[in-house]
Amino acid sequence: MYPLRRNRRLRTTEAIRSMVRETTLSPANLMVPLFITEGKQVKEEIASMPGYYRYSLDLLKKEIQDLYQRGLRSVLLFVKVPDNLKDNKGTEALNPDGLMQRAIKMVKETVPEMHVYTDVALDPYSSYGHDGIVENGKILNDPTVEVLSQMAVSHARAGADFVAPSDMMDGRIYGIRQALETEGFYDTGIMSYSAKYASAFYGPFRDALDSAPGFGDKKTYQMDPANRMEALRETFMDIEEGADIVMVKPGLCYLDIVRDIREQVTVPVAVYQVSGEYAMIKAAAEKGWLDHDAVMMEQATAIKRAGADIIATYFAKNIAELL
Ligand code: PBG
Repeated sequence: MYPLRRNRRLRTTEAIRSMVRETTLSPANLMVPLFITEGKQVKEEIASMPGYYRYSLDLLKKEIQDLYQRGLRSVLLFVKVPDNLKDNKGTEALNPDGLMQRAIKMVKETVPEMHVYTDVALDPYSSYGHDGIVENGKILNDPTVEVLSQMAVSHARAGADFVAPSDMMDGRIYGIRQALETEGFYDTGIMSYSAKYASAFYGPFRDALDSAPGFGDKKTYQMDPANRMEALRETFMDIEEGADIVMVKPGLCYLDIVRDIREQVTVPVAVYQVSGEYAMIKAAAEKGWLDHDAVMMEQATAIKRAGADIIATYFAKNIAELL
């Protein structure tokens, strides 16, 4: 065929490159994770996540307005729980006046159009830093699902649009769906962290929430990074149990899984570009070794190209600015 086929013709100018581009990013597909803390006028930078902050509710208000103005429509809420409120069963997670419940109401009062997703897991509330109730060094599955289901209902009651269980207990999507239906929250969605790996990339997030496991690791519930079939099994089950959106987490190292899942399911697929992925780009850029914005856009584009419909990313604001 050469030289009749010259692929470079389609790359000559930005006009033609953008005409034939196969993947485009839009703020509509981005989800903004937010870290919330108690107090007033608090905006604390997270040491291992330069440029990312924990906000108290009063300052979060401004941040929500700012995000909305930039075209961002979805936030994923996480709370940093004071140590004295942590216990083994995550009792504080069910407090109707807890930080998460107040945060949901605040966001909805500030910008009712903002779509609110809430993290459903015990770790920020757990004195052990685990995603489940601990007994004799083990993470109990079914009693944890009980608490998660009540937690989801509590978030729905406060006004959450979607709950996002990030714990990886078996059967939790079914438990949560049942509980939501029983309480009449038919329209509250579930975005399941369905293929969530036991990854070393979550380190900075655990700094942000002070939620590192006090003993052991999370390998008895989060997935082995070596596994591919298991990701499909988890995802199929979560859909059967009632998940509206499924998720793969982390992002970059797991784009093969994203592609597998995108090809085999019909629900929207979200990808979480996690804290360690954010930190790596920040650190390399700080050293002057990588071009921050270029790498950020390239990674987000690659995640979308792999099959993500939704990207949860700490770069959301930054990306929206550049689009
Ligand atoms: C915990 C949870 C984690 C993240 C989201 N929810 C950490 C963990 O599983 O230990 C990680 C997000 C990130 O690293 O950005 N339920």
